[in-house]
Amino acid sequence: MLKFGIYKKEQLKNKAGFKNLIDKDKKISITLYDQITEEPNADELAELILLLFSDERGAYKRTYQKRFEEFDAKVLALLKTIFKENDSLTFHDVGVSNGRTALDFFEKISLIFPNIQYTASDYNPAIYIIQERNCKIALSHTGKILEILFPPFVFNVIKRDSIRHYSINHLVRLLVQFFVALPMVEKYKLKKIQARELMLFAPKVLNTAKTDPRFQLRQHDLLTPLSKPVHVIRAMNVLNPSYFSEDEFFKILKHIHEGLNSKGVLITGSNQEADTTVDGGVYEKNKDGFDLVEQSGEGSPINNLILKFKK
Ligand SMILES: C[S@@+](CC[C@H](N)C(=O)[O-])C[C@H]1O[C@@H](n2cnc3c(N)ncnc32)[C@H](O)[C@@H]1O
Repeated sequence: MLKFGIYKKEQLKNKAGFKNLIDKDKKISITLYDQITEEPNADELAELILLLFSDERGAYKRTYQKRFEEFDAKVLALLKTIFKENDSLTFHDVGVSNGRTALDFFEKISLIFPNIQYTASDYNPAIYIIQERNCKIALSHTGKILEILFPPFVFNVIKRDSIRHYSINHLVRLLVQFFVALPMVEKYKLKKIQARELMLFAPKVLNTAKTDPRFQLRQHDLLTPLSKPVHVIRAMNVLNPSYFSEDEFFKILKHIHEGLNSKGVLITGSNQEADTTVDGGVYEKNKDGFDLVEQSGEGSPINNLILKFKK
């Protein structure tokens, strides 16, 4: 079979209900991400575009607005019992993808703790687009090819189409990758063509970071130490066994432990679509590790490792 992708803004607009586009097989080019910022439904469109987009390790960046309403309410009630309303709180939300769920939480917590400094970070908040004629290539921050837009084809190079179902797409991708994309990347490395930086934070998130000095965005890899200790670390839908090995988890937990003030709090959990049950927990740092303070749903997918961790 043969299929084409979605790579023009009009293709998104023409659909009466764009949610219909959530078809596992229909690729929406990531290059549209910063072309829809002026649309009235920009945040929803951005969420949709991220749905099938993955980074160079194959990790998805999908996220949803209002993803943890019930869990957030529980956590806020708990934080009110741990911190005082006029405390100067420091908060680091890690692995935030486009930052929408971080912003949801910031908007709520900053009403209770107005003296908050909230940092939202992700492993790869930006990608890079190079272009020659109609062909656009999306590169990761490490220079790996993520997507090839060769109209009317959109190829996700990391999460590829099934060879069995889309053998023609597969063949075209191989040819385009070899004869068009790789020479373009070579030229880019030799600085013969320039790249455009494409920020993956949602439009509303970027806007809040510009207008509210309490809300900051940055790059951070959980496998590296945090720069300075904070009161609360939040890690939603990222401390999942599908992303990291056990050894990596212990490394991450060490960084989180060192990245918290004494008695600091770790909030973590995972769920599927918006407002489904969060399997997670809230942990308080102790001298050597963490104590579970509150559990939600089935608990964090790595609850055992968190409780086993000793610094
Ligand atoms: C499924 S999204 C979750 C986004 C958001 N926290 C939420 O719950 O809606 C997972 C995010 O974790 C990020 N991530 C994966 N590995 C990471 C790492 N080593 N350090 C920081 N973030 C990472 C990915 O880039 C992705 O944006």
